[in-house]
Amino acid sequence: MSKEKETNELMEKVVSLCKRRGFIFQGSEIYGGLAGTFDYGDLGGELLHNIKNSWWKRFVSARRDMYGIRAAILMRQEVWQATGHADHFADPMVECEKCKRRFRADQLDPNLQEICPECNGKLGEPRQFNMMFQTKVGANEDSSAISYLRPETAQGIFVNFKNTVDAYHPKLPFGMAQIGKAFRNEITPRDFIFRQREFEQMEIEYFVREADWEKHFEYWKEQMSMWMEDIGIDMSKVHELEVAGEDLAHYSKRTVDFEFDYPFGRKELFGLAYRGSFDLNTHKIEYVDEEAGEKMTPHVIEPSFGVDRAFLALFLSAYTEDTSGEETRVFLKFKPKMAPIISCVSPLLKNKPELVEYANVKVFAPLKEEFGRIAWDDNGNIGKRYRRQDEIGTPWCIVVDFDTLTDDTVTVRDRDTGTQERVKVSDLNSYIKEKLN
Ligand code: GAP
Repeated sequence: MSKEKETNELMEKVVSLCKRRGFIFQGSEIYGGLAGTFDYGDLGGELLHNIKNSWWKRFVSARRDMYGIRAAILMRQEVWQATGHADHFADPMVECEKCKRRFRADQLDPNLQEICPECNGKLGEPRQFNMMFQTKVGANEDSSAISYLRPETAQGIFVNFKNTVDAYHPKLPFGMAQIGKAFRNEITPRDFIFRQREFEQMEIEYFVREADWEKHFEYWKEQMSMWMEDIGIDMSKVHELEVAGEDLAHYSKRTVDFEFDYPFGRKELFGLAYRGSFDLNTHKIEYVDEEAGEKMTPHVIEPSFGVDRAFLALFLSAYTEDTSGEETRVFLKFKPKMAPIISCVSPLLKNKPELVEYANVKVFAPLKEEFGRIAWDDNGNIGKRYRRQDEIGTPWCIVVDFDTLTDDTVTVRDRDTGTQERVKVSDLNSYIKEKLN
């Protein structure tokens, strides 16, 4: 099989698994779909939560130098005029003179720049297309009512810099962090959840003295890698790219992109930028260093993470096919702490009330109470139940059988190895806790 066919097939399998098992659906699907939007189902939502919780815990709650913020998505238009987004947050776009479809000029085949990839018509001259979604706030129709859906969460942090300093009096260096939706009217959304029009970001703005920026940049580069590894992203597929001067965003003095080997190519996963004093200067915000008695403008290191890209990289890292048996076994090798479901409880037979009751009352209910993310499955034979849980990445399946009724032990079956062991029901709680940690 050609490499291209293999990678297309892998993406098709992943997209289809995501839909079939309720991880991700196309946005507005019953009306034909809205390009660049996706809805996360129950399991996808759990995985998203685990990604965001792990990030927030590591980078915000566990630290003494970080302040969270949950800023409004709608902001005054002056914010985006000041930052240059209103004028410069644009991609080059070309339109086909025949079919009128629009494409990003920089994503076209360099050898076929003037030919429409859809209908072979002639493409017009590139022009800049601003990617911010415009809307109006309130009932007024004049230009003063114009607002934008934020294209990055970062500005919600900068405009609250002074509020945070006044409320908490942090000393440099310190950071502010936010998780939230961002919106970009991408000309060509594509590659599943990779390039969307509505997506989520997890961003840190870390405020430092100018003289120290390189030290902090290196520190955050390492921290970003450590978190990726911790959640289970395959680090052999992650590569650092020093972004060349001419490709830097208008605010950045240095950027390192973390790229990931997706089936559709090596592309951006997360970014780390040195924004200098661009944003605070832009918003005319200063910081008073009380100890030194000086007014100054801190410089900014920005680790920026896309939640959906973290999801995709994690999912692709976990996706495994075991072809050693008669049938291919697909399983998601999530780290247990990231798995949407930690464990699935089953009575061996669903028509034996004594098994069902034991499984429900003595195993399922207490585990559900403790861990929350516990599933129940009594459908079909045990082998099929295991396959269903493998496919969604559940690390352990627990089966209550006739021996359980006499010796109070259950079978615990491991997702990755398929091995089974007997565990005392009274030990299940600590057994799972130990493995989760
Ligand atoms: N505040 C800096 C900033 O927004 P960016 O590189 O434009 O920088 C940061 O975006 C991260 O947001 C990216 O590394 C990526 O993970 C995610 N991201 C950007 N555009 C996206 C899109 N259209 N769909 C999904 N994720 C996106």
